[in-house]
Amino acid sequence: MKNFLNIADHSSSLLRNIIEEAKDRKGKRKGQNKSSIDIDKPLDGKSMIMIFEKPSTRTRISFDLAIKQLGGSSMILNPDGIHYGKGDESLKDTARVLSEYADILMIRTSSHKNLEEFSKNSKIPIINGLSDQSHPCQIMSDILTFEENIGNIEGKTISWIGDGNNNMSNSFIEAAVKFNFNLNIGCPKKYSPNNKIMKWAHKNKGKIFITKDPREAVKEADCIMTDKWISMNDKVNKKAKKKSLREYQVNKKLFKEAKSDCIFMHCLPVGRGEEVTDEIIDGKNSVVWEQASNRVHVQKSIIHWCLN
Ligand code: CP
Ligand code: NVA
Repeated sequence: MKNFLNIADHSSSLLRNIIEEAKDRKGKRKGQNKSSIDIDKPLDGKSMIMIFEKPSTRTRISFDLAIKQLGGSSMILNPDGIHYGKGDESLKDTARVLSEYADILMIRTSSHKNLEEFSKNSKIPIINGLSDQSHPCQIMSDILTFEENIGNIEGKTISWIGDGNNNMSNSFIEAAVKFNFNLNIGCPKKYSPNNKIMKWAHKNKGKIFITKDPREAVKEADCIMTDKWISMNDKVNKKAKKKSLREYQVNKKLFKEAKSDCIFMHCLPVGRGEEVTDEIIDGKNSVVWEQASNRVHVQKSIIHWCLN
């Protein structure tokens, strides 16, 4: 089964092909309306079920548009409105039965284990629309956005500032290995990357550099990226975490340390005034709205690959 659960599961060449198909399809539909179907209708008659255990704006709408543009349709399910592993029906049986009704599933979950349970039992492909461990579709969209603004990401330097141990940073570490870019992570020791993922990255020759000094992390950066200090369902002392991340705010002073044409990225939603100031996110180097828009194009390639 062709699932898309983590960046690390796939070869560099497959991931590259996904990005190139996204560029190609995006280019070909220039001028078309947002919901109109691509001329070749590659997924005519196919359907996608999406399950959201947690809130979502971008993922929900961009996946819906993606499948529509490919010629298919979608249905969004709230786990509270279906039998979803709460005693009356196991996740295993839910996965099996949903396979009868749709061609592909997209799941946003608080527990990566749920994705694994679904992928073991489903007869149709599963896409990870964010879990506590990873957010692979967002990172693929970020790579497309980077390349549209700066050029091929191989050998470039991306700086990740703030929480070094969340779903986004995990997927970025995996992407640094697969796309061969330098990843500088500026974070406090307490929020530094997960050991298991760093071991994997070292074994696979990832060029990952971790520092406590945010200024050192952004030196020579082509792109600075950050994320919410408190992720959804982050079970931490929020006040203490925010306090220890305060000096990692992406602001004008920090941005000056990077290359002059450095871009700013954020997956959104954003904590304005916390991880980033308004003048940076609304400034001329910010590409955050393009990132959101590119979700549609990259997810089209991911869905297409899963169903091909
Ligand atoms: N970036 C992202 O996944 O946004 P949503 O939570 O709105 O889907
Ligand atoms: N790390 C964030 C990403 C949101 C898209 C979270 O999990 O809440």
